[in-house]
Amino acid sequence: MRAAVVVRPGQPPSLADRGEPSGDVVVDVLAAPVTPLDRLCAGGKSYFGVPETPYVPGVQGVGTVGGRLVWFPTTAGMAPGDGSMAAKALARQEDLVFLPEVDPVLLAALGLSAVAALQALKSLRPGETVVVLGCGAVGQAAIQLAHLAGAGKVVAAARSAEARDRATRSGADVVVPLEDVGEAARDADLLVDPLFGPPAAAAAEAMRPGGRWVNLGGSASETSPVTSSTLRSKSLQLSGYTNNSLTAQRRSDAISAIARHAAAGVLTVDHEVVPLADVAEAWERTGQGRVVLAM
Ligand SMILES: NC(=O)c1ccc[n+]([C@@H]2O[C@H](COP(=O)([O-])OP(=O)(O)OC[C@H]3O[C@@H](n4cnc5c(N)ncnc54)[C@H](OP(=O)(O)O)[C@@H]3O)[C@@H](O)[C@H]2O)c1
Repeated sequence: MRAAVVVRPGQPPSLADRGEPSGDVVVDVLAAPVTPLDRLCAGGKSYFGVPETPYVPGVQGVGTVGGRLVWFPTTAGMAPGDGSMAAKALARQEDLVFLPEVDPVLLAALGLSAVAALQALKSLRPGETVVVLGCGAVGQAAIQLAHLAGAGKVVAAARSAEARDRATRSGADVVVPLEDVGEAARDADLLVDPLFGPPAAAAAEAMRPGGRWVNLGGSASETSPVTSSTLRSKSLQLSGYTNNSLTAQRRSDAISAIARHAAAGVLTVDHEVVPLADVAEAWERTGQGRVVLAM
């Protein structure tokens, strides 16, 4: 079958012929997104260690099982085994999420990025002010999900004009360049942070006492210059979050909620559909929004 295959850690995958998987559940894959986690794992420098090669990357996908539309996760790159970027992929029955009628490509684009955004907003109370850093897939989902959860105001801060345009289209009430986040985050209640680094520290400094800061990633930097006085003077609540700690049931509930919103037309992220054959060229591309490979 046709598959994207990582032959050497640190190099992009390329199209190859690979034996079909066999096991309990074989998914006929329709769409698989290329995410920062896929690139991190394939790079061989993640906290998951160096992946065994060759392997098929792709930690999630959308396809069909017995004619029914499903979303499924894999552990490709984090543990031995193949992932979703192939015509067929192996999944565990308990991990399958049966979907309503929804655009498979859009759901693949949202996927675990939207799950992380949803979980980061769990503590949101109606009327609160949310600050969202960066406006990739996580950021776009967070802005829309915050409004759906009753946020009073959503402030988005992003480095590029393209990302700020995405934030505006996602419905952010205030959109600023990253360097202005300190002013824009004044008295905010909740910080959704996939970036870390200086922007998160600046936003944290501006939050209200008792504000909650949820770190999801380190797209800007692995370290942040936040000071002890910033954290303790306002009793800020800083927490880290990973989707990997979700139980299959909670992940399924989250994907189902995201699928309902997507099917209702109230949740979307910019994405670009790329044929599987072009995976090598599209692997590092981010400018046009989330790349989704179509099988
Ligand atoms: N914890 C979890 O479970 C979980 C789940 C999903 C994602 N994540 C993490 O969350 C982060 C974002 O994921 P995503 O799916 O939204 O990725 P994405 O769609 O590729 O978006 C990445 C965003 O980060 C911005 N960015 C990249 N480098 C930056 C820098 N040096 N300074 C400022 N902004 C920068 C980009 O800005 P431009 O558009 O301006 O280039 C883009 O808006 C990643 O680190 C990812 O690993 C974590």
